[in-house]
This record gives sequence, C-alpha cells and structure tokens, in this order.
Amino acid sequence: MKEEVCRSAFEGFFAEFYDILHFSYKQDIPFFVEMARRYGPLVLELGCGTGRLLLPIAESGTAIVGLDSSDQMLAICRTKMNVYDEQTKARITLVHGDMVDFQLNQIFALAFFACNTFNLLISQEHQVKALCKVYDHLSAEGILIIDNCTPNIQGFMESNGKQAVYEFVNPANGNKIIDKFTPHYDFIQQLEHAKIVLEEYSEGELVRTARTKTTSTFLFPRELQLLLKYCRFEVLNIWKNHNQESFDSDAGEIIILARKA
Ligand SMILES: C[S@@+](CC[C@H](N)C(=O)[O-])C[C@H]1O[C@@H](n2cnc3c(N)ncnc32)[C@H](O)[C@@H]1O
Repeated sequence: MKEEVCRSAFEGFFAEFYDILHFSYKQDIPFFVEMARRYGPLVLELGCGTGRLLLPIAESGTAIVGLDSSDQMLAICRTKMNVYDEQTKARITLVHGDMVDFQLNQIFALAFFACNTFNLLISQEHQVKALCKVYDHLSAEGILIIDNCTPNIQGFMESNGKQAVYEFVNPANGNKIIDKFTPHYDFIQQLEHAKIVLEEYSEGELVRTARTKTTSTFLFPRELQLLLKYCRFEVLNIWKNHNQESFDSDAGEIIILARKA
C-alpha cells in the first residue's frame, strides 16, 4: 500500500485528485472564458493549477499565461494540453513561479485569481505583494478579477473540528476515493487549518493513502475591497455568482472585478 505525506494539497495524490474533486464544478468556466474574450487579448491566471480554466480559455481563442508554484499541477496541465490542436497549444504559456513574487516580462490586459486561490495567500504582506505584482503586470486600465468564497461563519462554526467524509470514483480505474477533511478555524487570525486524508480503494482494499495539512485564509468583502483600493485598484463590479448577479447579504461567493487605477 502506497502511503504519502504531502507538503501541500497540490502535490502527489492530491494533485492527481484535483480534477476528480472539481469534476462537477464547472459553473465558473463560461464566466472566465467570457471575461478573457472581453478583456483579453493576453490573460494571466494566478495559480492556474491543472488548467481547469486555462485550457478552455485558450481553446476559445485567448492567449493565456498560467503561473503556478506546483510542478505537479503544471505537469497535469501539460498532459491535458496534448489533446488540444496546435493553435490552442500555441496560445498557452505555463510558468512555474510564486504569485507573491514573479517577473514575466509581459503586460496583460486581464489577470485573475479563481476558485479561492487568493485565499491561499494567508498573510496580508503576501496578499499586498501579490496584488502589487499583478498591478505591475497589467496594462493601463488592465482588469483584475478575484473569485473567492465569502466566509460562512455559521458553517465554519458547525464544521469546526469535525471530520467531513466525501466519496468519489477515480474515472481512470473505477476505484473508490475517500476524502476526509477536518477543518479547525482560527476566527481571530481568519485562518482555516485543515487536515486532509485521501484513501483509494480497489475492490474494497486500501491501495493508496495520502495526508496533508493546509492553511488558508477567509476574507470579508469589505476587507477585500479595501485591500484592492490599498493596492491602487478601482472596484468596478461585485457579483455573487458567475451569472453576474449583484452581490448581496446571501452571497456564498464574491467575484470582484477591479481596474488598475
Ligand atoms: C485552488 S487551486 C486553483 C487552480 C485553478 N485556478 C482552478 O481554478 O482550478 C490553487 C492553485 O494555486 C497554486 N498556488 C498556491 N499557492 C501559490 C503561490 N504562492 N504561487 C503560485 N501558485 C500557487 C496551487 O499550486 C494550485 O494549483
């Protein structure tokens, strides 16, 4: 039986599991494809991962650079790229790097952090550094989009310290994958610490397991807007979902579109 201890949720078994976990999460794809078309021609995705968004954006005709700090997520993205035609592949550049400190020697019309990626920057120092780097890489009046979950305090309190168990099927071999997620919330520091265990079963027998510990933050809408303002962005739109409905008190998500001021 293969047992892994991973440094992050974006390596080893966790990287391989990423697309299985997000198999049914597709509602943001048309939104980002549309934004890339509207604000392109050249787009930067911070934390592009396995190319869940980057590949459809490139396929739709927009040139995109994907930056990610995980070699393994990028390797999966490269493998997935192989099924696309040469023109689509030519529109993609993958860069291994840290969104807190990068230098790409290119200027972008649109940059975005999707799928809670901005929340992986857990200190204010890193959040500001990353936003300043994005600012430097945007054209005059370039657009930045951040797509985050809103903090669900009641949900956090109910799940605090409790293990949630989710079941998936590995489409490659039909094996069952169990995902055990135990969060612990630090409400003062606005941090979610989680222990995650993956188990893969073949015909009822445990064949592979991996564990990791993660920390992410949760940002409140007014805080996020202030952070953008501090980093010289002007907030143009705030939506509560990918259908671009106006943000309100029931929002489970916050999608902020800002312009370089
Ligand atoms: C939640 S995944 C999102 C992937 C992709 N954007 C999507 O929507 O499916 C976050 C990604 O950010 C990457 N990441 C985390 N911290 C990073 C950092 N400091 N710099 C660059 N990439 C980072 C991870 O490796 C992972 O691929």
